[in-house]
Amino acid sequence: MNFELMTFDLVGVAHKKCDILLVLLTNKFQPGMDPLSTMIAQALKLGDLSSKVGSLLDIYRPAGLLCTRLVLIQAGDATSGEIRKSIAASMALLKSAKQKQLVLFFETTPSVQALRVAMTSLADSSYLYTTTKSKNNSETRSIARVMVSVPDSANLTAGFERGAAAVKGIEFAKEWGNRPANHATPTHLAQAARSLAKSPRVKCEVLGPKEVAQLGMGAFMAVAQGSYEPLRFIILRYSGAPKTTAPVVLVGKGITFDSGGISIKPSAEMDEMKFDMCGAASVLGVFKALAELQPDLNVVGLISACENLPSSKAVKPGDVVTSMAGQTIEILNTDAEGRLVLCDALTYAERFKPRAVLDIATLTGACVIALGGVRSGFFTDNEALSTALMSAGESSQDLCWPLPLDDEYAEGLKTSFADVANVAGRAGGAITAAKFLQRFTAQYPWAHLDIAGTAWRNGAVKGATGRPVGLLLDYLMACENVT
Ligand code: BES
Ligand code: MN
Ligand code: ZN
Repeated sequence: MNFELMTFDLVGVAHKKCDILLVLLTNKFQPGMDPLSTMIAQALKLGDLSSKVGSLLDIYRPAGLLCTRLVLIQAGDATSGEIRKSIAASMALLKSAKQKQLVLFFETTPSVQALRVAMTSLADSSYLYTTTKSKNNSETRSIARVMVSVPDSANLTAGFERGAAAVKGIEFAKEWGNRPANHATPTHLAQAARSLAKSPRVKCEVLGPKEVAQLGMGAFMAVAQGSYEPLRFIILRYSGAPKTTAPVVLVGKGITFDSGGISIKPSAEMDEMKFDMCGAASVLGVFKALAELQPDLNVVGLISACENLPSSKAVKPGDVVTSMAGQTIEILNTDAEGRLVLCDALTYAERFKPRAVLDIATLTGACVIALGGVRSGFFTDNEALSTALMSAGESSQDLCWPLPLDDEYAEGLKTSFADVANVAGRAGGAITAAKFLQRFTAQYPWAHLDIAGTAWRNGAVKGATGRPVGLLLDYLMACENVT
């Protein structure tokens, strides 16, 4: 989606020719004498547009205006959350719209954060996946160009650029998340990562089964061994700061299809396990945005990509493998594969002497039960990281919530046959998974994001969300200021 930033007031925007004029109204609205103001004031007075956030009024060929369609949306106090909700309320309208040119008009100049959220929300509401539709059956995304207009754009240009870059990153993550597993193999993901390295400051290196074996990544290899598709370990580097600046490392779970392996999953909804690489896709999305923005930061992206399938070569329940860290792991359930591919990547991350490591994974069904699709779960024993993640979640409206890491939760991971088991009981499943990962993170500040509930939507609107690219980007951009 392409954006342009423009300056208009209520009088000016009425004379702007466009297909859809989307007006975000706030409680601060002060009507002038112009036709648009008069219309809005009347709609509010008669109650055709209520003061409730997300309330909509859709008008065709309004008198005195040059737009074909005028859509008024109530955005309350225009906080980031209200902006997100009000734009989401127009989702059905935006998805079905046949018009191409949209003007998003803020009647009151928004905060930088609200502006960014408006851009990401609008893009989200109008996104359309087409890659694996045949030409004849493929619709095109109707809204492809958006003019963002505000009464005063003077202090908004940097925020606008960041919003546009965030959208590029989110849509890159959605694209790869949505692709079916046969169109998004580990090798395909590696190609996607390599394509990002065409941008300045971005480098990419890809390791295959041989190199990964040399590194001793026995846990990662165990998951991959059941599949004909070879694993890939992807290393992305964005170098925007001096070499002496410690990087943030992002680690993405890249299970391109999770059948469960020998501990096979039930058939119902198994197709959704093509989304099990959404952590990896979010790392790719962040690099896409970094490539656009070129901030003064160092960031490393690590992706463990493979399939989790049953076969005569597949790892079996009870098998014991040795991780890169030297810890032995009893694989009691081959469906708890995410932590296995991640633990070796977390050990690999040590070599970068990182200022922080964040892993991002569709790790547990238990996290979906705990938090649903509204907030991603995060785990960290680092106070500063916790605060930074919460605030990045708020500012991007890509929300998250802390979950605990008490040592008692690790009890169930004990076993007589290895240093650690890969599963505990059903209770607190998201937390025991985090406790498993934590064993491999002693060398640096670490946080784990469980995005199992937030990375994709199911049902009629099934599709990747591109989360938590927005959150990660805001986290990283806040790091730029404190070096
Ligand atoms: N990829 C799944 C987690 C998942 C399940 C995400 C459903 C979204 C929806 C993960 O690899 C998995 O299978 N986890 C198991 C762990 C269990 C065997 C301890 C789970 O959550 O059931
Ligand atoms: Mn699994
Ligand atoms: Zn999985």
